[in-house]
Amino acid sequence: MSGAREKNIIQGRPRNIFLVGFMGTGKSSVGRVLAARMKRDFVDLDELIEARQRRSIPDIFASDGEAFFRKLEKEALKDVCFSDSKVVSCGGGIVIDKENVVLMKQRGILVCLCAVPEVIYARTRAFSNRPLLNVPDPVSRIEKLLKQRERYYALADASVDTSSMGIGDAAAYIEKLYEDKIGKVSGKAGKK
Ligand code: S3P
Repeated sequence: MSGAREKNIIQGRPRNIFLVGFMGTGKSSVGRVLAARMKRDFVDLDELIEARQRRSIPDIFASDGEAFFRKLEKEALKDVCFSDSKVVSCGGGIVIDKENVVLMKQRGILVCLCAVPEVIYARTRAFSNRPLLNVPDPVSRIEKLLKQRERYYALADASVDTSSMGIGDAAAYIEKLYEDKIGKVSGKAGKK
């Protein structure tokens, strides 16, 4: 087994793949396809938080604020990190918390999806489920947040620009990237 591959295996099982990156870069859609391709379980962290809270993310932000959401996000990440072999789609702000990044790096690899602001705006404008973009000038907000978060997204092990890539192509690209870096490992192999 090569050093790189060994590094990414925990007790014979492949590590998690955490998809991080800004809102609207395709983490959830690409993650689902990637998980199916790699025969892994898929977890969408935002959906997990909503299911646990039995309310939407905009409701959580509106009633309890962003800091409370970040607490829930951190807890959900910790719980997901108890197991391996998953593809995990994370909310765009997860990397702001250093401890989250350290934990994800211990439990898997981080792939950052990115896209140019115009594409992010085009993909997100029809939806009102992202409280941080429900502002009078979402384009400026996107640009500002991207600038603020640039250095956190740069902590990922690899990054993929999805601006002009379809969901299937992006998933195939990440699978290849994983195999090239780590070696081919079956997601369900050795699963309890
Ligand atoms: C957020 C991104 C959202 C969600 C929440 C906050 C962010 O997830 O977690 O609205 O801070 O960037 P997506 O990136 O999946 O849209």
